Amino acid sequence: MRQVDRQSTVGEIVAKYPRTIQVMNRYKIDYCCGGKDSLEKVLQPWKEEARAIEEELNRVINKYTENNEVVKNWKEESLTQIIDYILETHHRFMNDTLCELNELTYKILKVHFASHGDSLLRLHHTFGLLKTELEAHLVKEEENLFPLIKEFEKTNDQNLKQRIDQFIQNTENEHDAAGDLFKEIEIITEDYTPPHDACFTYKRTFELLDALEKDTFNHIHMENSILFELISSAR
Ligand SMILES: [Fe+2]
Ligand SMILES: [Fe+2]
Repeated sequence: MRQVDRQSTVGEIVAKYPRTIQVMNRYKIDYCCGGKDSLEKVLQPWKEEARAIEEELNRVINKYTENNEVVKNWKEESLTQIIDYILETHHRFMNDTLCELNELTYKILKVHFASHGDSLLRLHHTFGLLKTELEAHLVKEEENLFPLIKEFEKTNDQNLKQRIDQFIQNTENEHDAAGDLFKEIEIITEDYTPPHDACFTYKRTFELLDALEKDTFNHIHMENSILFELISSAR
């Protein structure tokens, strides 16, 4: 029976065994912006439940061994391949979903203003901030950071590396800011629980917000714990 190492960072655990994300999400363990924290540290607030969470993680990890499952080791891929994967999956999903949610959050605000005006106004406002920040963030990665990284991979130019390190610092700060806005949205929507009188559109909005949060966490994990880690270890 394989045991998860409590000294491993949560980012490392997720990179090695991606299905542990489901357990992390369930217990609201921040494996993306907080990916550099050790499992030991993130389990501390859970006190007596920590053991049970660790066992759940072990069960997920052992399934990989039982099924002889080979997990894609991103750290063996080139930086360019990782970037292209991020663009094709997470950036595309984020762009499409932000666009759809922009209409939906406005629509439910208008239709349900009489019964849920307070929370829907807060949701509309906070989602607006999130959308503005995330769109700018995607453009900066696509136009600045990612092309620089691809160039660095080709040339190994150390001057480029310095500029990249600077960009990474700003990018990680923006990831933290997006994580905070998602936490606010979780509070406003009571963890994406629609009210009893919610219509189809209301439910769809909450489902999509929930999906966007989960995909964003995974996206940030790919950048912070895989792509940026590889760059910081590149000489
Ligand atoms: Fe990104
Ligand atoms: Fe990012």
